[in-house]
Order: sequence, then structure tokens, then C-alpha cells
Amino acid sequence: MDIRAALKEGMARLRAAQIPSHTLAAEMLLMHALERDRAWIYGHPEEFLDSPTAEKFLALIARRVAGEPVQYLTGKQEFWGLEFEVTPAVLIPRPETEHVMEVALARLGERGIKIHMDTGAPRETLRVADVGTGSGCLAVALAWELPHAEVFATDISAPALEVARRNAARNGVADRIHLVQCDLLTGLEKTDPSSVGARQALPASTQNGPLFDLIVSNPPYIAREEAAQLQREVRDHEPHAALFGGATGVEMYQRLIDQARDLLRDRGILVLELGHDSAEHVRGIFDAQPAWTKVAVTMDLAGIPRVLAAERAR
Ligand SMILES: C[S@@+](CC[C@H](N)C(=O)[O-])C[C@H]1O[C@@H](n2cnc3c(N)ncnc32)[C@H](O)[C@@H]1O
Repeated sequence: MDIRAALKEGMARLRAAQIPSHTLAAEMLLMHALERDRAWIYGHPEEFLDSPTAEKFLALIARRVAGEPVQYLTGKQEFWGLEFEVTPAVLIPRPETEHVMEVALARLGERGIKIHMDTGAPRETLRVADVGTGSGCLAVALAWELPHAEVFATDISAPALEVARRNAARNGVADRIHLVQCDLLTGLEKTDPSSVGARQALPASTQNGPLFDLIVSNPPYIAREEAAQLQREVRDHEPHAALFGGATGVEMYQRLIDQARDLLRDRGILVLELGHDSAEHVRGIFDAQPAWTKVAVTMDLAGIPRVLAAERAR
């Protein structure tokens, strides 16, 4: 079988199984099986696949037909122009989450903190937290954009934190990312005596209470009762701890916002990704707390309120 025939066969099997974006999926899986890029594949349509490679490709196609997402088959996903390892232990980073990056960087920009601002002159470290880091996509991308930032990335899942650790190393920011296994921000809370263990694991510079300049989070926000309506790729393959926020989906926000209020510096920024119908509920939490100013919601490209940002009042 040559490359042209393999691609045609892969596409046909995916199309017959009604797999969305079947052309792209077949290309990605062939690129992965051959360890070649798209340009090489289209430049060598007559090249023959040896039989182990052909078998590997068709086995990948079969797994995709059975519902496994392409990213778990290839083991990678791009986010913010960077490449991330993904395994079934972590949510596959979504394009919507790049809006969290945009809003966070725009808010910092308004305060005179620009990306790649590293003039060599001594400046105060910017302290950032990413709550529920998963693959580490937000933590790593923020560390990459903000060379003077120290990033604390939390997750309840130890296997997810292992993936995040590898992604920090892969993208050259491991020395500025501290991974903490804890419930939301509980491991970083300065007033919670149960956090002592977690605190001891933190660098000495944070022992007096890490007060953050920026906290971001894409928390689990899908309602349990919506599980049946999810695509099977998501429901059957992505980690449920990353998907479901509780019976209604909005359960995590109140606790997260309360903790962020206590851990943000004056004028510190909180940026949250929102579930498709959670904007009103989450906005209500901010409106009920005088601790916040400059609360604003940003729409995603589909016109869904997707990101909420707020500033800790002085
Ligand atoms: C929606 S995923 C987001 C992952 C990643 N930040 C992203 O945007 O792709 C939510 C993450 O929160 C983690 N998580 C769930 N409950 C948590 C909790 N109580 N405390 C900390 N992390 C939690 C999950 O393990 C998962 O990695």
C-alpha cells in the first residue's frame, strides 16, 4: 500500500463510521504512524508503507473509529502555539481556553506588564496560579509568555500533574512552575492549617503566604446530568474529574472565587473559563462580593460568554 492508497483507505473507514473531520484525522494518524509531517506525506504519494507501519496506521484508524480522540492516539495537541503531550489522564486543551490566555495577558498589559518583558533589569517576580492545570497548558503558556513569572499549578489528579510536569520540561519552563496536588487552591492557602504539608513543599520564597498577581482557571464545569448529551469521544475518553463540576456544573466556582479573593494581591486578577450556560450564575457570585471590581465577560468565537475576568479591589 502506498501513501495515497493508505490515506484514501483511512479516510473511507473514518467517513463510513461518521467520524467528524475524517480527512484531517486520517492525515494526522498517518503523519503519526510515519513520523513525518504533512508536507512530506503529500510530497511522496507513491512511497510504500512497510507492513508494520501500514498495520500501525490501520490500527490507529480502528481506534479512532471506536471513538478514541485523535489527540490521545498521537499523544499531542497544540495550545497557544506550543506543543503539549496529552494522555487520557488530562483534558485535551481546547481552542476556547486560549481566550483565558488572551484575557489574562490583556489585563496584565493594562497594568503595564507586557509579554516577553525581560529587559534584564531586576524586577519583582510576578506570581501566577493555574487551578486545575491538567496538561499544564495554561500554566506553561503563561510561564512561556511571562519570563519573570513564577507559576503555581494545582490539580487534584496526580497523573495529570505528571503530564503537566513533562509539558513544563518540554517547553523549557520547568524551573518556574511549581506543581501542587491539592483541592483547588487549598494547598496554597495561608490561613488553612491543613495546608502546612503542601506549603512545606513550596519554595522558601512563598513560605509567608503566596499572594498572587494573577489566578487563572478552567475548572470542570459540565453538569453531570448533561453527560448523556456529550460527544462519546469526550464522555468515554476524557477524565471525568476534568469534565464534571457537579450536578449542575457550576459547583466549583463559588469555592474557587472565595479562595482566590483571599489569595490575590490588591488589584490582583482572576480569570475564569465559563461553561456554556454558567455566565449568569458566576457573575452573580462576583456581584455579591464587594471584594471585586472590573468584572467583565468575554465571548468566544461562537458568541458564547466564555471567560470572566475580575480584579481584587484594594
Ligand atoms: C477542565 S480541566 C482543565 C485542564 C487544563 N487547565 C485545560 O484548560 O485544558 C479541569 C482540571 O481540574 C482538575 N480538578 C478537578 N477538580 C479539582 C479540584 N477540586 N481541585 C483541583 N483540581 C481539580 C481536573 O483534574 C482537571 O485537570
